[in-house]
Parts: sequence; C-alpha cells; structure tokens
Amino acid sequence: MTDENVLRVQGISKSFGGVTAVDNVSLAVKRGSITGLIGPNGSGKSTLFNLISGAEKKNPGGSIEFEGRAIDGLPPHRRSALGLGRTFQTPRLFTGMTVLENTMLAPRGQKGERPFVAPFRKRWEGQEIELAKKAQEQMTRLEIDKLYGKLTSEISGGQMKLAQLSTALMEDPKMLLLDEPTAGVAPRLAQDIFQSITDERQQKGTTFFIIEHRLEVLFKHVDTVFVMHQGRIIAEGRPESIVKDKKLIDAYLGS
Ligand SMILES: Nc1ncnc2c1ncn2[C@@H]1O[C@H](COP(=O)(O)OP(=O)(O)OP(=O)(O)O)[C@@H](O)[C@H]1O
Ligand SMILES: [Mg+2]
Repeated sequence: MTDENVLRVQGISKSFGGVTAVDNVSLAVKRGSITGLIGPNGSGKSTLFNLISGAEKKNPGGSIEFEGRAIDGLPPHRRSALGLGRTFQTPRLFTGMTVLENTMLAPRGQKGERPFVAPFRKRWEGQEIELAKKAQEQMTRLEIDKLYGKLTSEISGGQMKLAQLSTALMEDPKMLLLDEPTAGVAPRLAQDIFQSITDERQQKGTTFFIIEHRLEVLFKHVDTVFVMHQGRIIAEGRPESIVKDKKLIDAYLGS
C-alpha cells in the first residue's frame, strides 16, 4: 500500500501528573508537505513533537507510524536513523566545539566514526572534505557561514537556532520536526529560514512539520496547518481558511 502520508498519529496522549499536555491527538502529515503546528503557549505542541521523536513516552494506547511503520516502541536514535529528524525549542548543541564541528557531527554512517576505519585516514579523508563542503554550503544559505570557527558557547540564541537547523539538514532526513525555527532571529532572517526550508523541500522532497509562533512567516510557506489548544487538535486546513476559523481566534484570544 502506498500512503501519501509520511506520518500518522492515532489517538495519542501524554499526561504529566494531573496535566494532560497531549489529549487524544490524531493527525496525518502528507509526504513532501510543509505542515504547520500552531497554538497558544502551553497548548502541547512541543510535547506532541517529543512523543513523535521519542524524547517522551506517550501514555499507553494509540499509535505513531512513520513511513507505514509503528515507531512508538523505538528509542529516539532509531527514529532518527529511519529519517525522522528534529530540532529543539531550546537549541542543544555540543559545547566546547565549533559551529562547523557541530554541524559535521550529525550525519550518520560516517566512515571515520567506525573504530576500525578511523586509523586509516586516507579512507575517510575524502568523505570529511565532502561533509565540510556540504556544511559550508548549508551554513552559507542560513547566513551563519562566518560563524563556522566560533565556539557554540560564543554565539547568540538565534544563531544557535540556525546552527541547529543546519545540523539537522545535514542528515538529509525524510521528515524534519522543527520546534520554533525562527525564535530569537531577526525578521528578515526568519523569512530566509523559511525560504531555505521551501528550497530544501523542492530539491529533496523533505517533509517539514513546523511549530511556529510567527504566523505571518509560516503562512506564506505552509500547505496545511494544525491548530492545537489545550492538548487537542481543534482545526486543520490551508492557511487562508485557518485564519478565518473562529476556533483559532478563540483559542488565541480566549485562553
Ligand atoms: N516535562 C514536563 N513535566 C511537566 N509538565 C510538562 C512537561 N512538559 C510540558 N509540560 C506541560 O505540558 C503543557 C504543554 O506544554 P508544551 O511545552 O508542550 O506546550 P507548547 O505548546 O510547546 O508551548 P510553547 O508555545 O510555550 O512552547 C504545559 O502545561 C506544560 O507546563
Ligand atoms: Mg513549545
């Protein structure tokens, strides 16, 4: 069976003590789409991404399928090896390393990382150069190429978001979950980030699922938007219909 949906979530929930952060959510994300996830603060968006990526364990019941395969039982690194990448709302980069080193750490299956191959420098040298080139290209597109030699502890929050996006793209994921990719970056750069996302989708067919508070930027680039409120998905549709949806307006103004 070929399925146009790359991700399918069916009836999943997550409680923290008495708080139901994600409440019986079902949704599907189309392969090759740029899909948005919006909602007021605390509505459960990041928690939903954590359940999908495996950072948090869902309550018993429901299912998460990626490329037609149940992934709920897999640890995060196995999900990422299947091509399901993510970035965090608060960037997580390795400290004591440069931006370039961080970006190059990501790709899986690097020959140099295997203990038996590492000593034979010639075998992996070419691959490292290729990766460095790719990292450089990626960083140039996101306008952080001048930062490549800087330590990750020396860059701003917005620059960290960009470095994290760059790192995530290096893995050539099939699907990337981005948690507020433009938080803390200048408005013009926010547009550029979304342009890079659109280009990436165009070139590689990558599916993007994006949490974003800057609706004016998001809505220019997405195909579909899900609206979350108090742990539930309350609306779904194209951005132009979503903006007219009373439930959305109530969720933002009424909570
Ligand atoms: N690890 C945790 N332990 C306890 N409660 C949590 C935890 N993570 C999230 N929550 C609670 O779950 C609810 C949803 O939080 P979540 O971070 O998913 O919201 P969000 O939509 O991403 O918000 P924001 O837009 O502010 O990032 C909130 O009430 C939050 O306090
Ligand atoms: Mg969040």
